[in-house]
Amino acid sequence: MRDHEWVPLLHITRLSGLPVRKVDYKLRILEDMGLVFRETMHYVGYQIDFHGYDLLALAELVKRGFVECIGDKVGVGKESVVFEALNDTPLIIKFHRQGRTSFKHVRRVRSLFKDLPRGSWLHAATIAAKHEFRIMKRLYPMVSIPKPVALSKHAVTMELVMGSQINRVILTNPQDCLDVILDEVHKAFLLGIVHADLSEFNILIDAESIKIIDWPQAVDVNHSSAQELLEHDISNILKFFERKYKIMMELDDALDRVRDSIGEGHCDFRS
Ligand SMILES: Nc1ncnc2c1ncn2[C@@H]1O[C@H](COP(=O)(O)OP(=O)(O)OP(=O)(O)O)[C@@H](O)[C@H]1O
Ligand SMILES: [Mg+2]
Repeated sequence: MRDHEWVPLLHITRLSGLPVRKVDYKLRILEDMGLVFRETMHYVGYQIDFHGYDLLALAELVKRGFVECIGDKVGVGKESVVFEALNDTPLIIKFHRQGRTSFKHVRRVRSLFKDLPRGSWLHAATIAAKHEFRIMKRLYPMVSIPKPVALSKHAVTMELVMGSQINRVILTNPQDCLDVILDEVHKAFLLGIVHADLSEFNILIDAESIKIIDWPQAVDVNHSSAQELLEHDISNILKFFERKYKIMMELDDALDRVRDSIGEGHCDFRS
């Protein structure tokens, strides 16, 4: 896939170790199910799309014992489709979809994508998932994020947060909540990470805590745009608290708190 837009049938046959007629027969069944596409040029080639790739990732997660069953779709983001799943504990599987609808991540972490052929969305999604999982492993449990569980192709499996986005609830102590958020951003900063897409839509709150999600676009604090991205993150959060709770905080003060040390708070809400 990395080398061919349409993978030659003979190449697939060689990889599978099966006779060419059998491979062709099975691929035609998959084609009827809409999981692969066939094109006849000077050779016969196949392409897999996101639905087929989702199933491959899911099969791998099941085989490796991380997932027992998959549940409802819980979210469709600009750059992902998110499903509930189950093992001993409730999980979610975030299937990345970078490239198709948005170039946000691809642009920002451009160096990760430098060797990709044009239009290779599955690879873009796989690299983004790998990046998100790596960042989450680096942050957890020091920063309040869902526990990362497993990575398979373009799918990140993590703990399910039984909560809501903070814009969907009414916080009873918004000032404390803002403090907690700045505290978590500060902890991530100390670990060398800037979220780079932080907003009220990427913060979940459950009965006990807030959890920051959606890390594929995170950058290292030494990234050339890190300071600008950090300012943007903090400014999004301040604007939300000002708009909804009339809490005013100067951007520079908030940035100082994130870059220095701040106190512990507790966040509470009612829905
Ligand atoms: N660990 C989780 N627990 C519960 N729900 C989650 C979790 N992770 C993601 N979700 C749900 O899935 C949605 C999309 O997830 P996320 O924000 O990570 O993806 P995204 O595609 O980058 O979204 P967007 O581009 O819209 O910000 C979230 O808004 C949330 O509703
Ligand atoms: Mg999001």
